[in-house]
Amino acid sequence: MAARADATIDALLDFVKQSRGFDFTGYKRSSIERRVSKRMAEVEVDRCDEYIDYLQLNSGEFAELFNTLLINTTAFFRDPQAWKILADDVVPQLLAARPPDSPLRIWSAGCASGEEPYTVAMVFARVMGDVAFRDRVKIYATDVDEEALDQARHGAYLPRQIEDIPRDALERFFEQTDQRFVFRKDLRRCVIFGRNDLVQDAPISHIDLLVCRNTLMYFTAETQAQILRRFHFALDDDGVLMLGKSEMLITHADLFTPIELKSRVFRKVMRVARRERTRVLAFDPGNGASQTVGETLRETAFDIGSGAQVVLDASGVLVMANETARRMFGLGVSDSGRPIQDLELSYRPVELRSHLDTLSKELRPIEIKSVRTGAADRERVVDVRLTPLRSDGGLMGTSISYLDVTEARKLQDEVTRSKRELEHAYEELQTTVEELETTNEELQSTNEELETTNEELQSTNEELETMNEELQSSN
Ligand SMILES: C[S@@+](CC[C@H](N)C(=O)[O-])C[C@H]1O[C@@H](n2cnc3c(N)ncnc32)[C@H](O)[C@@H]1O
Repeated sequence: MAARADATIDALLDFVKQSRGFDFTGYKRSSIERRVSKRMAEVEVDRCDEYIDYLQLNSGEFAELFNTLLINTTAFFRDPQAWKILADDVVPQLLAARPPDSPLRIWSAGCASGEEPYTVAMVFARVMGDVAFRDRVKIYATDVDEEALDQARHGAYLPRQIEDIPRDALERFFEQTDQRFVFRKDLRRCVIFGRNDLVQDAPISHIDLLVCRNTLMYFTAETQAQILRRFHFALDDDGVLMLGKSEMLITHADLFTPIELKSRVFRKVMRVARRERTRVLAFDPGNGASQTVGETLRETAFDIGSGAQVVLDASGVLVMANETARRMFGLGVSDSGRPIQDLELSYRPVELRSHLDTLSKELRPIEIKSVRTGAADRERVVDVRLTPLRSDGGLMGTSISYLDVTEARKLQDEVTRSKRELEHAYEELQTTVEELETTNEELQSTNEELETTNEELQSTNEELETMNEELQSSN
């Protein structure tokens, strides 16, 4: 039964994609299903195939469907604590890290009807002053919903929409005309609205602050990951990302690291510069010890080294093998002076001959990782490293060392597995949290619709009463 329901909603989404080019497949299925059912109930249609017919016959219905699917719930200074952190900590840090006149590029992605980007504008103008704000700041505010963008561009809001704006900010940044509060025109010029589909379009680049709140949670984990990779690209190296209160990034720690986890403020993780290789220096005691004592010391140290190590001369003859190597490969005194190709060591636990040829031609170290050695029940894993020993530019010999990485590998495997399990558990939890939050937003949006209908009814009622009174007075 569920599969059949799925197939029909798939057909509907496919029809929307074919006819309007909008792809809802990256959105969480549960939310899409709820929204489609809601719209179908409103137009009194029971089945998806009937609804497809309805869409074909009623040209205005696509806009209604998009309005239902793209939830535009928003507010000025939504979650006030997050905006306080932005004003008190994030903006001052961003400004301090940049030259005084440098431009600041901000992206409000999923900006709905503009309350969010205008809130960002107010926060920055309050910290920087209006003049510096006008000179330096550009806020790119994007959404996929053209209708919402249209409202946003006007920057005009009803009294109930401006209720959460602090009084001083309302007086400073808005002008009142008739029944509307309009965001100041001179500052509005710094906010550039445009359509951008987070799933399909290229991101805006060189961004210092990216605000994307209560939008990612509508997408599946896979699509969220894809969008976050784009956000990573969009941000400059020390750029900051601000998400909504129920959006977390624990499974994307490679891309973003928290600055203020509670307020969902993150910094872009820069690509780590490749570390210089550590050079191990040979150390000569230089304390007057005789050559023979020095040599003995070196040989003894070599012998007790914990990893297996053998040394060949320039012609490939075995000249030294430390105790671990002798034990590991069953080497005896008689093996000293034998060419390596005569020893089992040359092909077990790993084929060395071709590598030795390469090394003598190219004079560069060669590493062979994760070589398995020993019987199945006592199997060990080693990294084998062949290092040319050079003198006056020529090859004097070759050191072959075997580093036992069995325990490290096991630990690494366990860490990777635990991390995967943790990520999986976290993703499930996160999906549940987001599910709750989206349901909440859907309820809020339905509530707003009811309020509007109520207001309309009230005004009709008032009109009727006026007419009634007029009639009474004329009688
Ligand atoms: C719940 S609103 C959030 C508004 C605002 N960011 C806030 O937190 O108050 C989600 C917004 O995401 C937008 N949206 C949905 N899908 C999108 C997409 N693929 N690309 C860009 N915006 C999208 C919707 O149109 C809607 O305006």
